[in-house]
Amino acid sequence: MRMYDLLEKKKNGGILTKEEIDFMIQGYTHGDIPDYQMSAMTMAICFQGMNPQETGDLTLAMRDSGDTLDLSGIRGIKVDKHSTGGVGDKTSLTLAPLVSSVGVKVAKMSGRGLGHTGGTIDKLESIPGFSTELTMDGFIRQVDTIGMAIMGQTADLAPADKKLYALRDVTATVDQMALIASSIMSKKLAAGADAIVLDVKCGSGAFMKDRKGADALAEAMVSIGRHAGKQVWAYITDMDQPLGNAVGNAIEVREAIETLKGQGPEDFRKLVLTLGSRMCIFAGVAKDFDSAYALLSEQLHSGKALEQMARFVEAQGGDPSYVLDEKKLKIAANVMPLTAKKDGVVSAIACAEVGMASLALGGGRETKADTIDPEVGILLHKKVGDAVRKGDVLAEIYYNDDRKGEEGLKRLEAAYRIGEAAPEKRPIILGEVKG
Ligand code: URA
Repeated sequence: MRMYDLLEKKKNGGILTKEEIDFMIQGYTHGDIPDYQMSAMTMAICFQGMNPQETGDLTLAMRDSGDTLDLSGIRGIKVDKHSTGGVGDKTSLTLAPLVSSVGVKVAKMSGRGLGHTGGTIDKLESIPGFSTELTMDGFIRQVDTIGMAIMGQTADLAPADKKLYALRDVTATVDQMALIASSIMSKKLAAGADAIVLDVKCGSGAFMKDRKGADALAEAMVSIGRHAGKQVWAYITDMDQPLGNAVGNAIEVREAIETLKGQGPEDFRKLVLTLGSRMCIFAGVAKDFDSAYALLSEQLHSGKALEQMARFVEAQGGDPSYVLDEKKLKIAANVMPLTAKKDGVVSAIACAEVGMASLALGGGRETKADTIDPEVGILLHKKVGDAVRKGDVLAEIYYNDDRKGEEGLKRLEAAYRIGEAAPEKRPIILGEVKG
């Protein structure tokens, strides 16, 4: 088999077979196929597309290019969740303890943040003592005994995707649906769960800006799940404004814990309960959506979900007193308000711009080598649709460095739009694609 012939075939709209895709991905991973041929292929795929069979085969080839986690040592059904990323997305912090408090096993590998979206690992590390550096044996033992664990990615999962993504990034071939869906799903499938719930974000702060793109990505990923013989269900959820009210690291952990106490912002709580209900059904813990939703709501109100968070934090070396009293989590002492310049209604909050404001404060990374300041962040007091009077506080900025604080405030100011009338309300759950 020759890569040249596969390029000719795809250029002319042909369908690649499983053998051809395996040959291509194995050859590329091992360095036998050079970047210039692979970049010609990704561009050909941009123009000619890939059908669901090819997309599924590509995903499995990338999944099998490196380590795949064996979670068989964990009793019960392991359910994973993946979000395509957004601003203020602290979902895993609340969702994992919530669902594991009713018996869903969650073995989660998470990443650090880069650019305008934050990472679960960075957020968790704002809890004193907390470590995500577990051995694989320790990780499996912890999930088996207490029901959940979150660790940083150490295993060499889907190395073909890592190499291919870097190539796509510099050859203007990131934004092709089959390539995106296979990239995400190859890593998820390598992480070994029995079932996966996907949170496909849609809006100004998301990878997919509109419904058409978000729906297509959700469909493609669910179809890959079917191809791989896994249960996968996708929700399309709003990311046209930040999720909840807190954006940053320690400040998001505080909000995640408040939500575990049955408080917290309504949009965030609803998202967590929706994703969690589907996870409960996949795990066989509940028989239908409504009973799962009621069960999880009760766990928030009874304090059981909070207890599970404390257990999880302690198991990973963190101080559980910070879970029981989240106000102990240190937030920067300097606060600056952003105030409304006129009367009106918040008509939009440019979501990515809020993420950039948090980044400017030092709450995120521009390059992988940057360190983050866990204490800085943003608290939104007004969200889209809220009426405001001139002088009202729209949001507050928590900062440690005056220059960064000014820069963050400038960016946050640019994010808020005050109009005359309330825009049409967007629900947090915009749609779903059933598995
Ligand atoms: N995230 C990924 O992991 N892969 C893509 O291709 C796009 C977003």
